[in-house]
Amino acid sequence: MRLDNIKTPAYVIDEAKLRSNLEILKSVQDESGAKILLAQKAYSIYQTYPLVAKYLTGATASGLYEAKLAAQELGLENHVFEPAFGDEEMKELCDVCDHMVFNSLNQLEHHRSVWEKAVKEESLSVGLRVNPEFSTQEGHEIYDPCAPGSRLGIRECDMPETLPEGVEGLHFHTLCEQGFEPLRDTFAEFEKKFERFLLPKDSARRLKWINLGGGHHITKPDYDRAGLIELVKYIRDKYHVEVYLEPGEAIAIDAGYLVTTIMDVVKTEKYPVLILDTSAACHMPDVLEMPYRPPLRDSGEEGELSFTYRLSSRTCLAGDIIGDYSFDKELSIGDRLVFEDMAIYSMVKNNTFNGMALPDIDIMHEDGEIEVLKEFGYQDFKDRL
Ligand SMILES: Cc1ncc(COP(=O)(O)O)c(C=O)c1O
Repeated sequence: MRLDNIKTPAYVIDEAKLRSNLEILKSVQDESGAKILLAQKAYSIYQTYPLVAKYLTGATASGLYEAKLAAQELGLENHVFEPAFGDEEMKELCDVCDHMVFNSLNQLEHHRSVWEKAVKEESLSVGLRVNPEFSTQEGHEIYDPCAPGSRLGIRECDMPETLPEGVEGLHFHTLCEQGFEPLRDTFAEFEKKFERFLLPKDSARRLKWINLGGGHHITKPDYDRAGLIELVKYIRDKYHVEVYLEPGEAIAIDAGYLVTTIMDVVKTEKYPVLILDTSAACHMPDVLEMPYRPPLRDSGEEGELSFTYRLSSRTCLAGDIIGDYSFDKELSIGDRLVFEDMAIYSMVKNNTFNGMALPDIDIMHEDGEIEVLKEFGYQDFKDRL
């Protein structure tokens, strides 16, 4: 079965590309000594976790559900960070996780009686998320945990003189789709601000690990991986800590497609509009949220090739528009289009607004064969209401 035979709309994971990303990440792990975790918020197709398990150290979760998924399906190191953990979830989180990161001293103390037991039994290591207050992104406040007024991470001025009892790690996450240089500069700032925890006086508690968060585009061809490897080695040698990285995008970047069929072509006073059997609002919400223009196979920019169309959806939302794309031939009802780079922040974020069906989830194996992993129907829509 090839892309032109599958039922649409469908996300298709490209197993060969996923493996190639994982190979790159493993080589960074091996050469630097870093431990790399899959941030499941970007990609949680657990049917591929056996492949992920061959390359990475573990996973990180944004809460109990992702943590349980990694415990059940990946079975490696299991980290969790959430701005606030629920009282009713804490015990189970301590059972399934081996690393837990708190976002505030309030949260740390509020849950102490539960997590402290797991720390004493040596089944859990606890850390604090800090905010280096060092923005490296412009015009992207929604993705900038260092933006003024951020709730994410404890500022240096709110940290105590020494690490609170039981705390063994520090975590920061400040980047989004960035190269090595912003990480280098952020670490330098972190090092300056949080030096008292990195090089404590003899009697003070020592850190065992530092987690540099996600947002690193490590598997992009132009990423300075040699720079990253040097930085990790420097941190490990100087501070005698384990170094964690928890990218999401880098694991499955360019490793999936969204295949869609043209259902109608509507004339307008501008470009003809293609009504697709997919939707930006439902199936690629980042297109509207980020916003960004998803790459589309065999297409050009607006006006670049002979035929320009506006790509839109069958929902009633006027703004459910994917973008204007051009093609070198006229398109008709029944033709298929293939959006690229659709494995990340897509399946984990989709929804059934307008009663839209969720796309199938398929996998293209390394021999080119496509297997359907999941199909969704009316019951999935109803069960969520
Ligand atoms: C705490 C944390 N870690 C890791 C990630 C993964 O980031 P990315 O998918 O950009 O690599 C995120 C993304 O928001 C995050 O909030």
